[in-house]
Amino acid sequence: MFIDQLHQDHVNTSKLLVLLQKQMDAFDKGEETDFSLMQSIVDYMSEYTDSVHHPKEDLIYAALENRDPSYKNLVDELHKEHKQLSSLTKDLTLILEEIVLDSVISRESVSRQGHDFIKQNRKHLEKEEKTIFPLVLKTLTNEDWKSIEPTLTKQDDPLFGQSIQDKYKALYSQITEPES
Ligand SMILES: [Fe+2]
Ligand SMILES: [Fe+2]
Repeated sequence: MFIDQLHQDHVNTSKLLVLLQKQMDAFDKGEETDFSLMQSIVDYMSEYTDSVHHPKEDLIYAALENRDPSYKNLVDELHKEHKQLSSLTKDLTLILEEIVLDSVISRESVSRQGHDFIKQNRKHLEKEEKTIFPLVLKTLTNEDWKSIEPTLTKQDDPLFGQSIQDKYKALYSQITEPES
């Protein structure tokens, strides 16, 4: 079922957020931090989560509102969260670029932006998993799904999909590495 892929995206994103959290914790303690790994995670979230995953959800949420207009405020809120998450991704991308270029930036603002990014993404996907997806499954009819599905183009996932893009290979090996 279509929503299964979106659920799988959440599972995958959660793994990336755990990796990002580990790097942020190391950074906070002044320990060695893998900024290149952090850049790969944020790059993927820009390329896939913000550009493929969220637009698919937006289409489903529009159908939810169509089916039951009383969900308008909820759907507006979700669209707004997608926009906010995308702008957090852009901000974190910029600040990581600055670190890598050795620009003078405060450790405090890196820490704040990194942790905020993790927190807001987790909050959003937990809300979708616990509340929104069950509501969508309960509310949308087979006809609704039939009309949504052709509008959802299948786009390959460059990290968790059939073939892993070269730029994500180092990140992929971290995901599949057994816990030390
Ligand atoms: Fe979402
Ligand atoms: Fe989502």
